Amino acid sequence: MTSQTRTRVLTGITTTGTPHLGNYVGAIRPTVQASRDTQTDGFYFLADYHALIKCDEPARIQRSTLEIAASWIASGLDPEKVTFYRQSDIPEIPELTWLLTCVTGKGVLNRAHAYKAAVDKNNTAGHDPDSDVTAGLFMYPVLMGADILMFKAHKVPVGRDQIQHIEMARDMAASFNHLYGEHFVLPEAVIEESVALLPGLDGRKMSKSYDNTIPLFAPAEHMRKQIASIVTDSKAPGEPKSTDGSALFQIYQAFASAEETAALAKAYQEGIGWGDAKQVLFERIDREIAPMREQYQALIHNPAQMDKILLAGAEKARQLATPFMRELRHAVGLRALSSGTSTAVKPEAKTAMPSFKQYREKDGQFYFKFVDAKGRVLLQSLAFASPKEAGQAIARLQAQGTACLDDLSPWIEPLTAESRLQIEQNLRIL
Ligand code: TRP
Repeated sequence: MTSQTRTRVLTGITTTGTPHLGNYVGAIRPTVQASRDTQTDGFYFLADYHALIKCDEPARIQRSTLEIAASWIASGLDPEKVTFYRQSDIPEIPELTWLLTCVTGKGVLNRAHAYKAAVDKNNTAGHDPDSDVTAGLFMYPVLMGADILMFKAHKVPVGRDQIQHIEMARDMAASFNHLYGEHFVLPEAVIEESVALLPGLDGRKMSKSYDNTIPLFAPAEHMRKQIASIVTDSKAPGEPKSTDGSALFQIYQAFASAEETAALAKAYQEGIGWGDAKQVLFERIDREIAPMREQYQALIHNPAQMDKILLAGAEKARQLATPFMRELRHAVGLRALSSGTSTAVKPEAKTAMPSFKQYREKDGQFYFKFVDAKGRVLLQSLAFASPKEAGQAIARLQAQGTACLDDLSPWIEPLTAESRLQIEQNLRIL
């Protein structure tokens, strides 16, 4: 069941694009570093089922899967030491997705950021709220939950925008465990405070959607040209320059040591010319990337080798997934008709009650949620600066019931009429 001594760390990258420096600094490099920790077991995968949600170009998905896999290995990930696989090579994942779908409140998915953003955009444009929204986008968090829960991951390193998904995976695990027994580990998001959000060529966050990226493994000359096009102010050589808000400086910082960074800050003060500063940046990045570029090229030109590595990883992953899925199928009642049914007794079911849960997130802020007897989240708070404030909001709900919901609206996720009704019913039996 869930007893494990070693910590499992798991993360995936969606295969829709060519890896750029932002992916390297934000995801690839930290996961490679984490994978060297001998106290943990790493699970790293190419999220190509997730890619289908965003991309309908088969050739792009195939190419991106190869590029991201090659980048990970060229950056030092050792497929012998971790479990490194392609999501779509694990048929148990979509199977688990269905089991989790059946314990996930539709209302919870309505609140997922990516879906909500699509709906808000449609509303603003005066379109039908669900116009052009696929059920795949809506189900994104459940597929991600299956990725995580399948391998009983304890820690999931992700960007801030993914915290909500990990929280949802926890809720799915808790609901399932509550209904069918302790099968899943409750995962936790790991947010690397020290990992910088890299700015792109135009100073906004480096992202494919802004078309401002610097590809990770482009030929050196190409990278030099890209770096030369980073936006700067128009200060002439000799004029002191500010490091504040300088994209060039921030990118440098993500690659350089503290001393090197201090030296560049001094050069800024002393009026280094932008051309020279760009050369310094190029050389610093190239020092780190150049040794990996060769292996990357070799892997890209040998996709059959990459297939082999990934299939070996999938086999390793399925040694866990296949028996676990068998256990889960049995637990929910998808089992031989001749097998005994006595394990289905749920002693807690009678005594379970709705409850408030207070907790602290990795961001240091305090939150609470109100869950029903089955562990389903009915109300989710936003961040409070102190546990006391979160506690006061709970006390009001307990004392005043749904009458105070409007007053509390700045501190809670938006509610539908239906969820209000459920909150009311559940508060009553508290
Ligand atoms: N959704 C993640 C992203 O876009 C990728 C991802 C898919 C993932 N499944 C995951 C990350 C499971 C961590 C764990 O960044």
